[in-house]
This record gives sequence, C-alpha cells and structure tokens, in this order.
Amino acid sequence: MPRLANSVHHYDIRVSDNDHWTATGLVNGKSILLIIGGGIAAYKSLELIRRARERGARVRAVLTPAAQQFVTPLAVSTLCEEKAFTELFDLKDETEIGHIRLSRDADIIIIAPATANLLARMANGLADDLATSVLLAANKPILAAPAMNWQMWENPATRRNLARLRADGLHFTGPAEGAMACNEWGVGRMAEPAEILDAAEGILNAEAGPLKGAHVLITAGPTHEPIDPVRYIANRSSGKQGYAIAAAAAALGARVTLVSGPVALAPPANVRLVRVESARQMLEAVEAALPAEIGIFTAAVADWRAADEHAQKIKKLGKAKAPTLTLAENPDILRTVARRASQRPPLVIGFAAETENIVDYAKKKLAAKGCDWIVANDVSAEIGVMGGDDNQVLLVTNDGAEGWPAMGKDEVAEKLMQRAAAFLRDKRSGLAAAAAE
Ligand code: C5P
Repeated sequence: MPRLANSVHHYDIRVSDNDHWTATGLVNGKSILLIIGGGIAAYKSLELIRRARERGARVRAVLTPAAQQFVTPLAVSTLCEEKAFTELFDLKDETEIGHIRLSRDADIIIIAPATANLLARMANGLADDLATSVLLAANKPILAAPAMNWQMWENPATRRNLARLRADGLHFTGPAEGAMACNEWGVGRMAEPAEILDAAEGILNAEAGPLKGAHVLITAGPTHEPIDPVRYIANRSSGKQGYAIAAAAAALGARVTLVSGPVALAPPANVRLVRVESARQMLEAVEAALPAEIGIFTAAVADWRAADEHAQKIKKLGKAKAPTLTLAENPDILRTVARRASQRPPLVIGFAAETENIVDYAKKKLAAKGCDWIVANDVSAEIGVMGGDDNQVLLVTNDGAEGWPAMGKDEVAEKLMQRAAAFLRDKRSGLAAAAAE
C-alpha cells in the first residue's frame, strides 16, 4: 500500500493577549470517522481524507451502499491506510470492530457528503446500515456537510429534518451556492474539504474549551420600535461586537443563545440565534432563555418606543399638521436581568457607549444597572466604533478600570470571553472550596 507523505504537524498558534498563548484548530493526532454518503460530492471526500491526514489526523471511513456507486472502498482504504467499512452484518468485523467501537474510537464524526436521504434517516433514528447504526450509537460530536440538489435542500421535508438534527446537537458546515452536477445552480454544493476540516477543528477546540457546559446569553444589534406598520425608531448599531462575542463564546465551548435585533450579519456557527425586533420582544426572549452562567448585553436597545403604535400608516395631512410622537420608556433589559431575584446569571456584563467621561459614567452605570462588569467604549464620531471593525474598550469592575489597547472587535470578544471563563472557573473553585470546609 502506498505510504502518504509524513503528516504535517500543523499548529495555529495565536497570541490572544500578553499573558497566555492559545493553540487552536487541531485535528492533529485526532481520530476522524468519516461517513461517506451516496452523492456525486463523494469524490471530494477522497480529497478530504488527504487533507485530514496532512493535518495529522487518523481517518477511518464508512461508505454507505450508495456511496460505493460513486467512490470505491479500495480508493478510500488506500488513502486512509485503514480498512474501509461498508457492512453492518459482517461477522468478522463485528467481533473485531463493530459499529459501537467505530464511534467510540473516534474524536469526531464527519458526514461528507451528507445526502438528503442520510439526513432523513438520521432525523428519524433509523439504523438500517452500518453508517446510520454508527451515527445512532455515536457518543462523539457529529459534523455534517450536506450536499444535494438545491430543490432537495429547500424541500420542507429536508428543512424539518435539519431543524430536528440541529436541535439534537448535530453541527453543520455548508452547503454552498454554485453550479450543481445536474446543470442547475443553487444552494447545495458540499463545503470544500478545507472548510469541513476547519469546522471540525472548531468543534474539537470547543469540546476542550474552558466554557464547555456553560450557557452564555448575549443580546446584540439595535432594536426597532414600531411607529406604524411601515415606520420605526432605530439606531446605528451594527451588531458586530455582539456577534463576535457569540462566536468567541461558542469557540470556547459555550452553549450560546444570541438574541439579536435586526442586523445584516450572518449568524455565527454553533450559536442559537433568536431574532427579535423591539426591546420588549428582546426582553421576553432573554427571560425565556434563562438560566445562563453568563449574560452579556451588547444590544443598543432603544431607550424609548412610540407610546401608541398605530395600526394603520399615519397619513400626511398637510404642512401645519405634522403628527406629534409621544414616547414611552422601554424596559432596561440589562438592569432587569442583573436585578433578578432568581436565575440571575453569576456573571452579568453590560456595555456602555459614551462620548465623554467614560470611566466615570461606566462606574455609575455599573452601580445603577447592578451588573458585574461594564465594557465601556468611546463612540464619539471621530473614533468610528459604531459600525467599524475595531474597538478600544475599558473593562470596568468593582475593582477598578482597565484600559485595553485598540484591537479588532473579534479580539475584544476573545479576550473578554477568556476573562469570563477565568471568572467562572475561579467562582466554581471558590464554591467548591467553601463546600469542602
Ligand atoms: O443605559 P445605556 O443604554 O447606556 O446602557 C447600556 C447597557 O445597558 C448595554 O449593555 C445595553 O445593552 C443595556 N441596555 C439594555 N436595555 C435597555 C438599555 C440598555 O439592556 N433598555
């Protein structure tokens, strides 16, 4: 059997702040169980095996009967340098390595291509071949890379199956939009092998992350407060900082609920996104998502809403008769959650956008809202934080204020979540020590 070039030991080391190093994105030394479904994209799974092995992973593969119409077990086993698994009822293999062992031995299971049929069988808990039996018995994270004709992808039956599988905790990457093997154009092309491996690395990282098991609840974006059916009060918040925090929390292993006002951003991977419009809807969604270990309130919630929402569009009645808008105060979501008697998250973080006296105002806000930390930033027009990609913040706690250098919003997010993870760890060990006394 031909030997592949030696594995490239591929570490992506990033300095996330001055006092620690994080190694991220490793399939190096990990075992991947690849389930190959029966679709034309199966040819790309051969490439996936090559790329995974280059990154230092061990790959074992299972082919469904339909997959074997597209790629051969011989090609797969040659690239894996392992037997390719195809049969559920192979007495020899069931004694040597059965479907339970296949999943137990893996660190992650990747389904590529995940066909509509395979997803449908999984969504219904079927175990009628080796692939579905392995998947039903799996105790490891599962990443699916769907690939199918765009109409199959959009079919309500597939949408139902996906929703079910997502709720069951399956991870997805892709599909992408593009030309299809059937000469049509649409969403349904399998993600590229490198993207699939990047997604797998993200999941493996999260599995070992310091926020594993914690629920992080985040608000983001502006709110829209209706005046009438076509008009609303809004603000310029882009939602970028909150979305970056959601992504950073998920990357550290947290279960993330992101309650978002209307923004033009793609949802971060592995985050439960709850879309809302108004402040009142946002509060309702936040309270419904409790309990959480950490609450982070980045949303630029409108302070006021129209006191009376008109059921019909307000008519222009001539110059002298411009309507008067009466405003009513919105609920303060941060304050409401931070002051809850029950289910108050152990760590509540607010944001303060100020244009002057930042530290002073942030300290006052910390006390007024009842939160634990305030991340304060200068949003005066010349700084360009609103809508921009960079941010310069001060972390204000009861112990004082700490200025962070200007950095990308994603770096602020990562640094903040590392801090939050350390806070939770200290709190947990403090509680454990107190219990032991
Ligand atoms: O009061 P101010 O808008 O400056 O407070 C900012 C902080 O309070 C942010 O964390 C913001 O998300 C939160 N907030 C809120 N609900 C409001 C107003 C602000 O959650 N109605």
